[in-house]
Amino acid sequence: MTFLMLISLDEVDLELFTRLLNGQLIAVKRLDNNSEQGDREFKNEVELLAQLQHRNLVRLLGFCLKADERLLIYEYVANASLDHFIFDPKNHVLLDWETRYKIIRGIARGILYLHEDSRIRIIHRDLKASNILLDEDMNPKIADFGMARLFVIDQTQGDTKTIVGTYGYMAPEYAIHGRFSVKTDVFSFGVLVLEIISGKKIGSFRYGENEEDLLSYAWRNWKEETPQNIIDPTLTTSSRIETMRSIHIGLRCVQQNVVDRPTMASVVSMFNSHSLILSVPSRPAFYLQDDSGSDILLAGLTNSDESKSSSVYVTQNEPSNITEPYPR
Ligand SMILES: *[C@@H]1O[C@H](CO)[C@@H](O)[C@H](O)[C@H]1NC(C)=O
Ligand SMILES: *[C@@H]1O[C@H](CO)[C@@H](O)[C@H](O)[C@H]1NC(C)=O
Repeated sequence: MTFLMLISLDEVDLELFTRLLNGQLIAVKRLDNNSEQGDREFKNEVELLAQLQHRNLVRLLGFCLKADERLLIYEYVANASLDHFIFDPKNHVLLDWETRYKIIRGIARGILYLHEDSRIRIIHRDLKASNILLDEDMNPKIADFGMARLFVIDQTQGDTKTIVGTYGYMAPEYAIHGRFSVKTDVFSFGVLVLEIISGKKIGSFRYGENEEDLLSYAWRNWKEETPQNIIDPTLTTSSRIETMRSIHIGLRCVQQNVVDRPTMASVVSMFNSHSLILSVPSRPAFYLQDDSGSDILLAGLTNSDESKSSSVYVTQNEPSNITEPYPR
């Protein structure tokens, strides 16, 4: 393991890409000073994370620790993050279907490595377009994995008061109850897939009078066999089989019920083998934004009791403030 440490704080242009003395470009991330973790634990965690190596993960090269200042040093990744492409009115045309498909599959392999194949099991908990970096060949690299470990949130318990994550990408059981598992990452992956295909952002997509959100919109169009309504119109040469299958897999991942979501291992096999038959997803968990602009996640709707409109609300500011008219 090569640790490229030993740069002093003064030499580091914080949160900017910078160069080590040997000319290698690096990226530096400054951690918020809200960790109760001691220096030794922090160092141990970084050393563990630095051992993770996969072509779809941003490589953690080292750290800098001085007084209260904690910096992480990452490999430099050339083409910024995915959100700069898919949500950008100009740049999104640069991502053709082949590239997007490569990105989707690469992200899936990176998450699978974190979940199952690395020496330590890692649940990312904040997968989103801005955490996917693109290298010079537009290969995706997942950033910010293991942050939960660096902030001493109890990973073994699977239940936390400190909810890290981003609304829209968060699975309902996590946003509402703080319950996380590998399946909460699967949910975020599903959202990402639908964003990559549609070029639409989960947090700002609203369709029609009923303000349909991206997940419901995708589900309805998939069911009605009008996938062209979901697919980014700039993707003129996409393969119908690949796009349909990707939407299908995306929808399986955003199922409200944890057990209805596949593991990342099955997601990767579903992409690898088109002969695998996929089960039909039901209506996904869905997401709303209220008039005041705060994010609201609406869950509790299942296929069978749509009319009852039972719901659980959680506001962004007060994740614990829950009204719970769940039918039991
Ligand atoms: C960082 O946190 C420590 C302990 O919680 C505190 O003593 C210190 O003042 C904080 N430093 C900064 C720069 O906020
Ligand atoms: C990605 O980065 C490489 C190297 O900097 C550059 O040549 C290429 O044009 C970039 N691709 C896009 C789509 O911006």
